[in-house]
Amino acid sequence: MKKAKIDNKVQLCIDRDFTISKVDERIYGSFIEHLGRAVYEGIYQPDNKFADKNGYREDVMNLIKEIGVPIVRYPGGNFVSAFNWEDSVGPKKDRPRRLELAWGVVETNQFGLDEFVDWCKKVGTKPMYAVNLGTRGIEDAKNVIEYCNIKSGTKYSDMRIKNGAKDPYNIKLWCLGNEMDGPWQMGHMTAQEYGLKAGRAGHIMKLVDSSIETVVCGSSSLYMNTYGEWERVVLENSYDTTDYLSLHTYYGNAENDTPNFLASSVAMDQFISQVISICDYVKAVKRSKKTINLSFDEWNVWYHSNEQDKKIEKWCEHPHQLEDVYNFEDALLVGSMLITLLRHADRVKIACLAQLVNVIAPIMTSDTGAWRQTIFYPYMQASVYGRGEVLNTVVKAPTYESKHGDAPYVDSVVVTDEENEALTIFAVNKNLEEDFELTCDLRQYAGYKVVEHSVLTHNDLKAENTEQNPDNVKPVDFTKGSKVDNGILTSKLPAKSWNVIRLAK
Ligand code: AHR
Repeated sequence: MKKAKIDNKVQLCIDRDFTISKVDERIYGSFIEHLGRAVYEGIYQPDNKFADKNGYREDVMNLIKEIGVPIVRYPGGNFVSAFNWEDSVGPKKDRPRRLELAWGVVETNQFGLDEFVDWCKKVGTKPMYAVNLGTRGIEDAKNVIEYCNIKSGTKYSDMRIKNGAKDPYNIKLWCLGNEMDGPWQMGHMTAQEYGLKAGRAGHIMKLVDSSIETVVCGSSSLYMNTYGEWERVVLENSYDTTDYLSLHTYYGNAENDTPNFLASSVAMDQFISQVISICDYVKAVKRSKKTINLSFDEWNVWYHSNEQDKKIEKWCEHPHQLEDVYNFEDALLVGSMLITLLRHADRVKIACLAQLVNVIAPIMTSDTGAWRQTIFYPYMQASVYGRGEVLNTVVKAPTYESKHGDAPYVDSVVVTDEENEALTIFAVNKNLEEDFELTCDLRQYAGYKVVEHSVLTHNDLKAENTEQNPDNVKPVDFTKGSKVDNGILTSKLPAKSWNVIRLAK
């Protein structure tokens, strides 16, 4: 059957005064869990030729700096739910080896809280630290924040000083547990139990340091049976001490159905809108003046490694685990997910690409080097160029039917940086065969010219970057594809492409 011809045009409608919100740079955060080779052989490998004097991989640090990752969530993930933070501080020779039950391995604790805070400083990022509310409780949450944020003169602050850190770590962002709605989670609870526990933990932690912000666990995905009710009940029991509610989501293309896969950003958009509604419902019921914002602290594509991981030997140390090798179509979806986060910049204030190195990650390492996976590029370009103010971007584009509902062929958003008189358009063309023509009336931006149009595209949707072929998928200059004439921008968006169109005066 002949396919109906679509109109390959997309129009962006913007107004300089109609903004969604300033971008909170923390939406370009990431996540490192004690899982597989994320920590060991990822960011820390003392015997490697790229290691600095502390054992931190400098080649990896350089790639993280290239992205400009503003926050890193740590140490888990599922790992955190049976973790004793005390095991991970002080002299390394005294740190215990432990059974790591979340991923069935042994944790050596040779890299821990003290090293993480130090590493964050070196890499130019800030810690977002998770406490164990699975097997432990509010007493431990109280102690770890005392260790981190109190200057001196108490048991745990003096312990930190004895361990070599004179100045407090001043960690401002705290996750209260991880995915506590999931039956797989150690110490899994009902919404009522968790809401009460998180409320109590937030209360006692803020007594220690009132300047911190807390993130409580929302649902592990939109598809959990308890989704919706979980958010309501948790917030009703922890509202006064909570600042953010978390969301997690991962998408895959196991059915090899690319149009449906690329439409997953529609589901992500619905997820965010629904969670905002639940937060605002609880706000209304409580007659509260406080608004709960969102922390999308785990998001990515994840499915390539699922089979391979079943073969991991029990109780070994940092095996190859969840090492998804990303392909070109994954990068397109990651681009669309970034656009979705930006379009909700008024409520999504924190987001973490899960994860950062080796484990479902944009950066991979071997003993001989580090390289950028395909998804590195949209993440890096959004982080570097997507800072400023998000404009309310109306996208007039044809749609296609998908399992998530009607999906636009083109996802897009415009970010302005008024101070530097710059404007950036991010756009994904999800049509696998047809180029699109994008137009945008820029007459309010008199004198703005195209600085660069960068395109990520590839003939092969399944193309990957590997150590042997690290530059197979990478952005190319396509500035000739965009022009401004009489105040109207016209850009060509090649079939299946991620585009970054930068304009400035
Ligand atoms: O990121 C991998 C795992 O996915 C995390 O440990 C967990 O929080 C989620 O289910």
